[in-house]
Amino acid sequence: MNFIKNMFKKNTISTKVDTKNIPVHIAIIMDGNGRWAKKRGLPRSIGHNEGAKTLKTISTFCGEFGIKYLTVYAFSTENWKRPKSEVDALMDLLLDFLKNAETHIGGKDVRIQTIGDVSVLSEEIKKEIVRVTNITKENKGLILNIALNYGGRSEILHAVKEIAGNIEKKKITVNDIDEEMISNNLYTKGIPDPDILIRPGKESRLSNFLLWQTAYTEIWYTDVLWPDFRKEHIIEAVLDYQNRNRRYGGL
Ligand code: IPE
Ligand code: IPE
Ligand code: MG
Repeated sequence: MNFIKNMFKKNTISTKVDTKNIPVHIAIIMDGNGRWAKKRGLPRSIGHNEGAKTLKTISTFCGEFGIKYLTVYAFSTENWKRPKSEVDALMDLLLDFLKNAETHIGGKDVRIQTIGDVSVLSEEIKKEIVRVTNITKENKGLILNIALNYGGRSEILHAVKEIAGNIEKKKITVNDIDEEMISNNLYTKGIPDPDILIRPGKESRLSNFLLWQTAYTEIWYTDVLWPDFRKEHIIEAVLDYQNRNRRYGGL
């Protein structure tokens, strides 16, 4: 909070932000890397490299801004459909990102974890995920959830199988199933639903991201491509969010 006060003093942040109503959880679909590169006549992989830099800046800023959870969509269950060369480049970049991630993100206070089925990723990547998750697990700042091989439908399917398995083992009965049990069997167990979902890159669709968790999330789209996304856009999204009336079906 002191950081926010200092930002106000230095006038680097809009004074319109209500510091008592900062969203707890922001989710971002990091989209538009390929088009960013194409516009410049560069290979798509350069766009992904720039996107990774943006992730570092934005996660650091979100921590300073007082956001507790940031969930970012890095690789979907559908992204395997891309040419092998692009998938390989993305995996190399991921490995690079994870190596020393604890030192280049968020003033060393960020807790890094992943959601999605990481079991199919390379041994090297899995090792880095375990390392970075362990080394940052006591950190008290932002919790950064990186969605890797993540799909909302496959997540729900996975939860259904877990619950059905518990019925089969006679640990629970059908009547025990409720919304809380489903939430507790998702990768996001224990994490509150996102308050805002930000999608840069011109598209206005969910692309299989957090389908269950976004039931009452405020959605904010921008044409800005992810590599051009800056902390000012986070502030813009938060200001917009603070002017919304979240009714949850009530009046
Ligand atoms: C997002 O950028 C990164 C991933 C999906 C991995 P894209 O690669 O989808 O970029 P565009 O949408 O083609 O511009
Ligand atoms: C969503 O972007 C996935 C990620 C950002 C990781 P896509 O570029 O894959 O989504 P579509 O294909 O435009 O829906
Ligand atoms: Mg895209």
